[in-house]
Amino acid sequence: MKEIVVSGIRSTGNLHLGNYFGAMKNFLKMQHEYHCFFFIADYHSLTTHPVPTDYHSNVKQVLIEYLACGLDPEIATLYVQSDIPEIPELYLLLNMNAYVGELERTTSFKEKIRKQPDNVNAGLLTYPTLMAADILIHRAVKVPVGKDQEQHLEMSRTFGNRFNRMYKTELFPEPYAFNFGTALVKIPGLDGSGKMGKSEGEGNAIFLGDTADAIRKKVMRAVTDSGPTQPNQEKPEAIRNIFLLMEAVSTKETLAFFEDKYQSMSIRYGDMKKQLAEDMVAFTAPFREKILALSGDEEYIRKVVKLGADKARASASETLKLARQAIGIRHF
Ligand code: TRP
Repeated sequence: MKEIVVSGIRSTGNLHLGNYFGAMKNFLKMQHEYHCFFFIADYHSLTTHPVPTDYHSNVKQVLIEYLACGLDPEIATLYVQSDIPEIPELYLLLNMNAYVGELERTTSFKEKIRKQPDNVNAGLLTYPTLMAADILIHRAVKVPVGKDQEQHLEMSRTFGNRFNRMYKTELFPEPYAFNFGTALVKIPGLDGSGKMGKSEGEGNAIFLGDTADAIRKKVMRAVTDSGPTQPNQEKPEAIRNIFLLMEAVSTKETLAFFEDKYQSMSIRYGDMKKQLAEDMVAFTAPFREKILALSGDEEYIRKVVKLGADKARASASETLKLARQAIGIRHF
């Protein structure tokens, strides 16, 4: 039996190249090696009060982009969290044994209090319980998430173990963070420092759905400097970043060409960025086309979502049945 993997995808924001070379590449490999449940975490997004007109289109956009990248809904189980009523029911059950003290001590909660003091809702406080329900509902053992989610995973283990102890069952295995082990390519942003991310400012990230023109504009505005002043000089961060981006999307020959130019101090960053922009446009083109095609194919999307919900509910309802039994909930 293949090990069970669960991962939640935030339903806000579009995929950028950093996401693609990071989490997405992992997902694409994992879907073949494990029994994967990937879902769009739309309930989680309610903690920030999105307006109704955005809610559905956000979910749709994320779904389309994941499909465009090559997640196979026949192989992995790809679903929308709010299609699975068993998740909020398990969330309710877990909340009865989740203590306010431990929830208040969660780093992400403390951060939210600081960032949105006017909206400290109970959904934020119990975010870790909902995430635990997402994972435990399929009795998953592996969760491909980054370091920032480590504490949430630890709480998922705590809640699962507590349930097991309390109701004398072995229903929930312990879920652990997991990386597929591909050397993750770090994709820097265009602003000269740090990694690619949408929160770092508009021009910093290249999105898979960006138009060719948008990509060209952003790349041409990328931070550089006045050029090397000595042969074979070590590159400052902004320049290293441009080379890293080129390494991700350009051919080895192109990269070697500009590397040479840099070392011999004859590099012209304008030329390099023009080349990088064209290579990025070419790299993202198939994704852009797929995204466009899927956007207009309501029927296919509906089919995919239904298939995912059916598969996810089959797994979820079995776990929930056992959880209710363990607690002593019975029908008359
Ligand atoms: N908290 C995760 C994030 O912010 C998203 C998420 C929600 C998740 N539920 C999950 C991730 C379950 C893994 C498993 O990225």
